[in-house]
Amino acid sequence: MDEKKILKAGKIAGEVKSWIKPKIKKDVPLIEIAESIEKKIFELGGSPAFPVNLSIDECAAHYTPSYNDETLAGGLLKVDFGVEIGGWIADNSFSVDLENSALNKNLIEASKKALENAEKLLSEGTPVGKIGETIEETINYYGFNPVANLSGHSMEQYDLHAGIIIPNVKTPSENEIEEGLYAIEPFATNGKGFVHDGKKGNIFIIENDRNTRDSLGREILEFIKDNYGSLPFASRWIVKEFGARAVLSLNNLENEGILHQYPILTEEKGKVVSQSENTFLVKDGKVVNTTK
Ligand code: CO
Repeated sequence: MDEKKILKAGKIAGEVKSWIKPKIKKDVPLIEIAESIEKKIFELGGSPAFPVNLSIDECAAHYTPSYNDETLAGGLLKVDFGVEIGGWIADNSFSVDLENSALNKNLIEASKKALENAEKLLSEGTPVGKIGETIEETINYYGFNPVANLSGHSMEQYDLHAGIIIPNVKTPSENEIEEGLYAIEPFATNGKGFVHDGKKGNIFIIENDRNTRDSLGREILEFIKDNYGSLPFASRWIVKEFGARAVLSLNNLENEGILHQYPILTEEKGKVVSQSENTFLVKDGKVVNTTK
């Protein structure tokens, strides 16, 4: 693990977070928010580890604006973004209530508190099921449910979701926290606590790198490999490079099974979801919240 790069990526994420928060207001176009964050990450010397996720209300995660998106900010907005330096990732998110709604505010408080309590427990040797239990109990205390089929994750270089899962509910998992890099991300909902796959969210990843007959598709695939490798990317990043004609090629690459487009993770009954996330470095008997 490259501690220096891990901490620098985290510091940039924290700075971007404080910088963007006051700019997020109701009816600001989502594309403006996404592009401001991504631009700021570059300015501060990092790269986006994945497209900025801007998910509203029942959408829990995995929506990023398309290049011609007209969606406006509103509801309970989750802002989830990552910074990457040399493949070392800082993953973090926060939620904003844009409706002055008591329900939204309580949901946000619940996932925030759950993350704080999880952080208190986090150290080498902590069973991951114990962290899930704390998250579940905290969110239940507010009268809500954690989203059981979304979870935190360990991270390795250029690998956003490495082997270890940090559940958001109590589980009998025997896994214990070892030295490493972890994203913990409680989601709270006034629904039952499950998300399913919704519509596609404009976020792609290479699934199966093989030959395609489409010549523009080939060019695009080379560009993706050079610039994003094993990390997710946005269709609008490709449009920026190749123009709107790239959209058809992206669809072809998806249909050929070369690219995977993530579906929006959507609360089953359309209930509201909040999220809170930080990245933690567990090393030498210490725990550092890198994205504070
Ligand atoms: Co994450």
